[in-house]
Amino acid sequence: MTRRSVRKYKPEQFSDEILHQIIETGLYAPSAMGRQPWHLFVVRGQQIIAAVDREVKTATARMPENPYKKFVGSASYSISYHAPTFIIVSGNTTLSPRNAPFDCALLLGNMFLAAHALGIGACWINQLNVLNDKPGFRTYMTQLGIPPVNRIFGCACFGYTDGPSLSWPNTRKHRHHHGVKQNDMTIKTQRKSECISFLCTCSCVVFLSLIGVPCSDAFVRRFFAKVMPGTYCCHVICLFKCQPAICDRFFDDLSLR
Ligand SMILES: Cc1cc2nc3c(=O)[nH]c(=O)nc-3n(C[C@H](O)[C@H](O)[C@H](O)COP(=O)(O)O)c2cc1C
Repeated sequence: MTRRSVRKYKPEQFSDEILHQIIETGLYAPSAMGRQPWHLFVVRGQQIIAAVDREVKTATARMPENPYKKFVGSASYSISYHAPTFIIVSGNTTLSPRNAPFDCALLLGNMFLAAHALGIGACWINQLNVLNDKPGFRTYMTQLGIPPVNRIFGCACFGYTDGPSLSWPNTRKHRHHHGVKQNDMTIKTQRKSECISFLCTCSCVVFLSLIGVPCSDAFVRRFFAKVMPGTYCCHVICLFKCQPAICDRFFDDLSLR
């Protein structure tokens, strides 16, 4: 729960051993039908990362509509937020046409958790995904070693965190807590209305029996379905009509709540 996307890194590289552990954890991610359609291309070192930066900038600038145009165009832009390790995750859509993107996302998620557990900051980087179909960039990716049949579904940067890791407001924590409170309230409100419904139905049935209304099963069911719809109506009716099997279910239900 303490993992957060990191966007400020120290220039120091972390060890190969840590890198392998992060990758290994990624490779243990589940994949549809166990096809593991992913391919990881690891870029280590500022020089090669700067070369990828240049290609991304050129390809992005050529596109009339690119959601990251302004961001990528800024002078300080680095695909890795200047982190020393960058991993490009692509998926073979021939091997897994429908699920390759999800499999790759799970792999990335596993790597983020592993990195965090090992004291390494990480962040998903999306700017390469929109360049898959750009011929110049495609050629460059193939030259790097990314299989031509693959599509890039996500990238990630990794490095030692510089400064506080909560670089963006921790909104998720708030959302999460808020959600739990709302859920508690909803459950309480539901239980309360179920109890009221139950008591009302009981009173109605007692009243009907006292005034001697001749009730067939069908009549009672219809009556209560109109007056007080709810799960307990049928249970109570059955109770009064002494249908043992359904009575049992009623008590089972009660003990479950
Ligand atoms: C599919 C996806 C794409 C993302 N793309 C980027 C990105 O391009 N740049 C970036 O800084 N963060 C990116 N993020 C990270 C999210 O902004 C971040 O996970 C979110 O704001 C929640 O913050 P947290 O990871 O600190 O909990 C991406 C995350 C996902 C899942």
